[in-house]
Amino acid sequence: MITDVRLPDISGLELLAIVRDKYPWLPVIVITGYATIDSTIKAMRLGAVDYIPKPFTRDSVMASLEQALHSGLAAVRKTDSPFSEIIHGGGSMTGVIELIDKVSRSEATVLITGESGTGKELVARAIHRQGSRARQPFVTVNSGALPEGLLESELFGHTRGAYTGAVTSSLGRFRIADGGTLFLDEVGNMSTAMQVKLLRVIQEQEFSPVGSLDLVKVDVRLITATNLDLEQAVYRSEFREDLYYRLNVIEIHIPPLRERREDIMPLAGHFLARIAETTGKKPLTLSAGAVAAMQEYPWPGNVRELQNAMERASVLSDGGEITESDLPVRMSGSALPTPQTPILPSADGFSLPGMLRDIERQQITEALRRSGWVRSRAAELLGMKRTTLLARMNSLGITDPSQEEG
Ligand SMILES: Nc1ncnc2c1ncn2[C@@H]1O[C@H](COP(=O)(O)OP(=O)(O)OP(=O)(O)O)[C@@H](O)[C@H]1O
Ligand SMILES: [Mg+2]
Repeated sequence: MITDVRLPDISGLELLAIVRDKYPWLPVIVITGYATIDSTIKAMRLGAVDYIPKPFTRDSVMASLEQALHSGLAAVRKTDSPFSEIIHGGGSMTGVIELIDKVSRSEATVLITGESGTGKELVARAIHRQGSRARQPFVTVNSGALPEGLLESELFGHTRGAYTGAVTSSLGRFRIADGGTLFLDEVGNMSTAMQVKLLRVIQEQEFSPVGSLDLVKVDVRLITATNLDLEQAVYRSEFREDLYYRLNVIEIHIPPLRERREDIMPLAGHFLARIAETTGKKPLTLSAGAVAAMQEYPWPGNVRELQNAMERASVLSDGGEITESDLPVRMSGSALPTPQTPILPSADGFSLPGMLRDIERQQITEALRRSGWVRSRAAELLGMKRTTLLARMNSLGITDPSQEEG
């Protein structure tokens, strides 16, 4: 990308920041007639490969382009983000891949569901990459991470002075994604007011930026994702039914890793190979004990947790092999007490309440481990209500180990 610094809607440096974030492999050259040391430094810090002050000669641009393309190609080999494949072991994920192929040939709105870390964003990118919009932008917005006011201007943009602190105007992600795909992550966490606004854009393909009465038309393919049960949310009137049907024209459900164990080893091999690429060493292998522990473990954090575990183990392991002791403790089944373990007197001697708390803690921890830290499932196992379980976990200080790391 070659960009000027002074642009009508946003600054070239802002654009550079967005591009670095979304298309890390794309080399950017910044051109400006207002060359100052400050903005040069800023552009370089933001990752521009070169900076050309105006006026420039044809030769200086050619030289700069050559260098940029060179660095770009090197980056393509290194980064995986837009070209990464979906690794699997031939089980239920083949159905998901087939569905991706089908929907990428259409323009249909897709809802991707699945637990955290199952690969929803990866699938969204694959749909975009295989479709007719592949050469257009793929823009992501995490709807759950932003407060309502910010989300609105993030999506639809704002005019200068639209609110306190809006010193420049902003395009908004919908306009940046024009012609391409907008991936709205965690759509289930959107406020009711935002749901109404989103529905309107889907129906009319137009909207007004914050602080403006102008209507802006866009051509955007929408892909959304959620780790919540949206149907339940509709039932509880937390999510608009009309919006749900608009978003869920086609649903792609990605099963949790514990329900597709055939993917564990291919994924582990893939991550170890990638780690080896960055370190320049031979990929580490896994000991039989490590393989057994990984096959057994419920992977509540799914593929992301597996990736973290491989990264961590690569650091800890000495020698060419990852053993069970290089994996997080929670993965070795024997490290956690089973319900059959004799109960030892609690810290406060033989006090019955203390002992009961110990039993309760062990039983709850084990049930959570067996159900992959899915609270509702553990509650079922324990024969208690989910809300009761949450209260007990809170009181006993039991937390999901996968949420503490990584
Ligand atoms: N099948 C797969 N093959 C290769 N890498 C994968 C696969 N599934 C997931 N990953 C990797 O695991 C990580 C988590 O995936 P991703 O961010 O797509 O998950 P997510 O479902 O969007 O999670 P969250 O709900 O937390 O946002 C990413 O680094 C992704 O590249
Ligand atoms: Mg995600």
